[in-house]
Amino acid sequence: MSRTIIVSNRLPIKISNLDKSFEFSSTSGGLATGMKSIHKKNNFLWIGWPGIDKKSLGNNLAKAEKLLHKKNYIPVFLRKKEINDFYYGTSNEALWPLFHYFLEFSIFNKSHWKSYVNVNKKFAKSVIKYANKGDIVWVHDYQLLLCPRMIKTKRPDLTVGFFLHIPFPSFEIFRIFPWREELLEGILGSDLIGFHTYDYVRHFLSSVKRILRYDVIFNKINVGSREVLVDTFPMGIDYAKYNDAARKKNEQKKSEMSNLRLQLMDHKKTSFDSKLILSIDRLDYTKGVINRIKAFEIFLTNNPEYRGKVRLIMLTVPSRSDVDDYIKLKKQTDEIVGRVNGKFASVNWTPIWYYYRSMSFDELIDLYTISDIAMITPVRDGMNLVAKEFVATRVDGNGVLILSEMAGASKELYESITVNPFDLNKMSDMILQAIKMPNKEQIERNRSMQERLSRYTVNYWANDFMKNLISRAKSNQNSVTNYFNLLEKNKLLEKLKLSNNKLIILDYDGTLVNFKVKPELALPDNNLINILNDLSNIKGMDIAIVSGRDKLFLEDNLGKLNINIIAEHGHFFKKKNKDWINLGNIDKVFLNDIHAILQSFSDRTPGTFTEKKESGLVWHFRKTDPELAIERVVEIETVLNSLLTDQFQILNLDKAIEVTSRKFDKGSAVNELTKNKKYDHIVCIGDDVTDENMFKSLNENSTTIKVGIKNTQARYYIEDPKGVVNLLNDINNYLK
Ligand code: UDP
Ligand code: G6P
Repeated sequence: MSRTIIVSNRLPIKISNLDKSFEFSSTSGGLATGMKSIHKKNNFLWIGWPGIDKKSLGNNLAKAEKLLHKKNYIPVFLRKKEINDFYYGTSNEALWPLFHYFLEFSIFNKSHWKSYVNVNKKFAKSVIKYANKGDIVWVHDYQLLLCPRMIKTKRPDLTVGFFLHIPFPSFEIFRIFPWREELLEGILGSDLIGFHTYDYVRHFLSSVKRILRYDVIFNKINVGSREVLVDTFPMGIDYAKYNDAARKKNEQKKSEMSNLRLQLMDHKKTSFDSKLILSIDRLDYTKGVINRIKAFEIFLTNNPEYRGKVRLIMLTVPSRSDVDDYIKLKKQTDEIVGRVNGKFASVNWTPIWYYYRSMSFDELIDLYTISDIAMITPVRDGMNLVAKEFVATRVDGNGVLILSEMAGASKELYESITVNPFDLNKMSDMILQAIKMPNKEQIERNRSMQERLSRYTVNYWANDFMKNLISRAKSNQNSVTNYFNLLEKNKLLEKLKLSNNKLIILDYDGTLVNFKVKPELALPDNNLINILNDLSNIKGMDIAIVSGRDKLFLEDNLGKLNINIIAEHGHFFKKKNKDWINLGNIDKVFLNDIHAILQSFSDRTPGTFTEKKESGLVWHFRKTDPELAIERVVEIETVLNSLLTDQFQILNLDKAIEVTSRKFDKGSAVNELTKNKKYDHIVCIGDDVTDENMFKSLNENSTTIKVGIKNTQARYYIEDPKGVVNLLNDINNYLK
């Protein structure tokens, strides 16, 4: 049975040094609490950093490792320098601020980046070491963006999923990162990529389209021979755990209550309409702590009747306390809490109770259950589980959640009071609205949210992700079945050897050469020319290039070879060592009118241009914005469809559309090539829709190969033009 290997920067427990020994404690953050509840099952391994460097553990290293292994945790120890450069550096001083739209906090440092690459390698190595054949690997979060590719390249047998727990920023922000291509390629090593919200999916796909220029069809991306699926999986919580714990709290006798609970209850007794507002977060600038306090200050200023009655309980958990911006934030928070308390405090009332520490699960439940309002107002947050946990603990249905619209959770918890965390006055108004909300309304809102949270739990989330991951990986595996592998290649070589008359038909762009920004730059190199030349000299072998290109280009670049060339999708034919012949005429006057229309589209769509051929026109959009291109193609097709006569057709090419004669296609070209000669075996290779006509016109006895994973009539796939050239080279070496 295959196992699941969770890979995250941190393990859910960390080691701290004591005098001569060490202790384990829980790590904070949504990733750890969420995944911890899934890891309980037996067939799970969890690979991650235990929060300490090897050296600091000294003699305790072996013992610590043994204890971790017992819990199915595999530690990846980081050296002090790696902690500094990879963890504090690239992860938390570059990626974290950038992905949360804090551009001004992002520091890009080349040596920190190198460390990021190396530490990702270290994690990938550990996965490769521990993974059995066919295991499922689930990589998590921004610290390990390069890992999926590193794993997949070395171990294609593994199913790899990736989930990002933080926001994926808009393309305009993401493009700022100096090593943005590497990050995207790294993530795309996965079979399935998950995000909390649809917005993050959108942003990711937009970056893939714009930066890597990969084909994205709905939420699928073609990456070589694989199809990568990108989807939304909003992470849930262990609802029953929070709900049950809250029920038990409500039934506690006074003697069983914690000091914290008693203290909070005392506050509530001070007045019949006293209120406790709760806020819980790691002390992080993304959490909007300062704005929240400022909004509370405005509330107390505008509503003096609530002074002495309303209190803000702020739990801030220490986090990344070696990073400058966190140190500054701590200082700023201390100061502003001090100032607001100084401004409004009376003898028996301080407006803000501020804890700077982490709390146990039990204490958290005390805070959740005793509070009347939770104010969760991050300025940017991937999901925010605290908001969900608060709702889950409202067993009687009362309580009000004020939630930032910048938190991923707001997409699901839309019955909360949602606020813009930058609009401080509005936030103050919303505090008043929360205080005054009738009980009935509170219950109605919470019940709908609870219904949703109790269904889409963290377990459901993980199963949903895994189910999709496995099915995606299976489809990729199936396409690998049709992959033109070594076995198929050897069979073909043998077949060709036994054939007296053989024909190899090759498309040009996307098959023999990679696409370039401008078609005139996609030239055959010497190696390709030599291989084609050698092949054409093999006894009994015919070579044909069947292309949509104009005859001038093909003549200039391939004309000297002893091969057949068909240009403009079958319009022009040059038999071996003969002159070009024109197989049909076209209405040039009409074509000129269409040219003027396409030109007008090119004029108002930067990065596009129109190519004029003898028998047709091509509108190229490789260099333009991919989304604008899609819109323009629809517009152009609408205009052309209303104008074109029966003589013409529209072809959808790779990042181009062509208007050409309906009389010819590459299928008719193949017929032309084979009508006067009987071949024992034909090999045909092409990459786009126009090549499908060739595949269709060939019989079962031929070898048809598609370049790239796309819908096709061809029998096999090859990854890219490099693979095609290698195959031609192998045929040449085998037969000559
Ligand atoms: N949490 C905790 N101890 C604390 C405070 C918070 O274990 O003292 C937990 C909290 O219950 C929640 C997680 O930490 O599950 C915080 O997750 P969230 O998604 O809200 O924010 P993140 O820290 O991941 O940005
Ligand atoms: C967020 C991140 C996690 C991270 C956690 C705590 O939840 O998404 O990847 O583990 O914060 O941060 P830390 O830097 O202490 O691991």
